[in-house]
Amino acid sequence: MSQEKLLIGFIGQGFVGKSIADDVESRGFEVIRYSLEEPYVQNKDRIKTCSVVFICLPTPTTPKGFDDSIVRSATALTKPGATVVIKSTIVPGTTLSILADFPDLTADDIRACLSFAADRERRLRVIPAA
Ligand SMILES: NC(=O)c1ccc[n+]([C@@H]2O[C@H](COP(=O)([O-])OP(=O)(O)OC[C@H]3O[C@@H](n4cnc5c(N)ncnc54)[C@H](O)[C@@H]3O)[C@@H](O)[C@H]2O)c1
Repeated sequence: MSQEKLLIGFIGQGFVGKSIADDVESRGFEVIRYSLEEPYVQNKDRIKTCSVVFICLPTPTTPKGFDDSIVRSATALTKPGATVVIKSTIVPGTTLSILADFPDLTADDIRACLSFAADRERRLRVIPAA
């Protein structure tokens, strides 16, 4: 990662997004929070400044099926080269499908990652490298 200041973005400040953002912030990182609630609603454009972005948005099951369109829209708010961590519930195959939606991405430049939900942990645990 470059020497520029590491900003960590959160799209969605509900149960999941707020829990993780609070924890990351408590570790000394600067976080940018964007959601529909005040005061975060004006931070949409600032997500483009973040090197890592957690997507913590609702993905409802509707009469027409599982709707992950909001995750795709959120991915479009990130800058090229950012690491995107999808915390939203998604069905198998969604990450590859999202990558296919973004022509600037290749298999060697995977920005969309899956992450286990650690929001019920009091603190995220740091797992030492092997
Ligand atoms: N709650 C849990 O225990 C849990 C655990 C694991 C995974 N998940 C998954 O994580 C995701 C988020 O869950 P949650 O419980 O935090 O949801 P939530 O309803 O508590 O919060 C949703 C957040 O998304 C924001 N939001 C909604 N639409 C938006 C938009 N168009 N643009 C910007 N922000 C928008 C809302 O303002 C809110 O801050 C879901 O997919 C859920 O299935 C939840």
